[in-house]
Amino acid sequence: MFETVCFRDGLRAFASVTVPRDMTTPDNPIQRSFELAAERCEDLTPLVYRRLFRQHPEAEAMFRSEGSDPVKGSMLALTIDAILDFAGERTGHFRLIECEVSSHDAYGTPRPLFAAFFGVIAQTLRELLGTDWSTEIDQAWQNLLAQIDQVLAQNGPRIPSS
Ligand code: HEM
Repeated sequence: MFETVCFRDGLRAFASVTVPRDMTTPDNPIQRSFELAAERCEDLTPLVYRRLFRQHPEAEAMFRSEGSDPVKGSMLALTIDAILDFAGERTGHFRLIECEVSSHDAYGTPRPLFAAFFGVIAQTLRELLGTDWSTEIDQAWQNLLAQIDQVLAQNGPRIPSS
């Protein structure tokens, strides 16, 4: 059986990627949280960036003021792919996290801010899900965020530019 989930379509962070799921695939609370959000919201992008810039106003100036919407949409969609892979089968997309932490060092994105993006995604989902944000989903997200922090810590401190 296959289940279609909305995730990515050009600039939108939700569209139609087909996620295979059969009776032998264990239920994945992280995936379910995205599925439930996709039922309630056509595009996560504005919600995530509004929250990010409210909590971390310094992040807004890091994006070009003109023409950065495609980058923002793509950054979020790729981050969601990486999260789903990290929380699921780990086929490879999850490696984006360790690759991008280095490229973001070069963009000048502080590590704590880079890490905060994942929490902002979780908070956005939580708000969208309301009472459907179960203890199981909450626990899974807490574990995931802790594991991502470990990955970031293992990738060494940022080397300051001279
Ligand atoms: C709040 C934290 C973050 C900030 C402020 C930030 C900032 C940026 C900026 C300014 C760019 C555009 C660079 C350019 O103009 O070429 C960018 C691109 C990108 N970021 Fe982030 N980033 C953050 C977190 C992340 C995270 C956590 C990931 C994934 C693990 C990620 C993945 C990407 C990718 C894949 C691109 C390239 C997108 C594309 O051009 O298609 N970013 N980011």
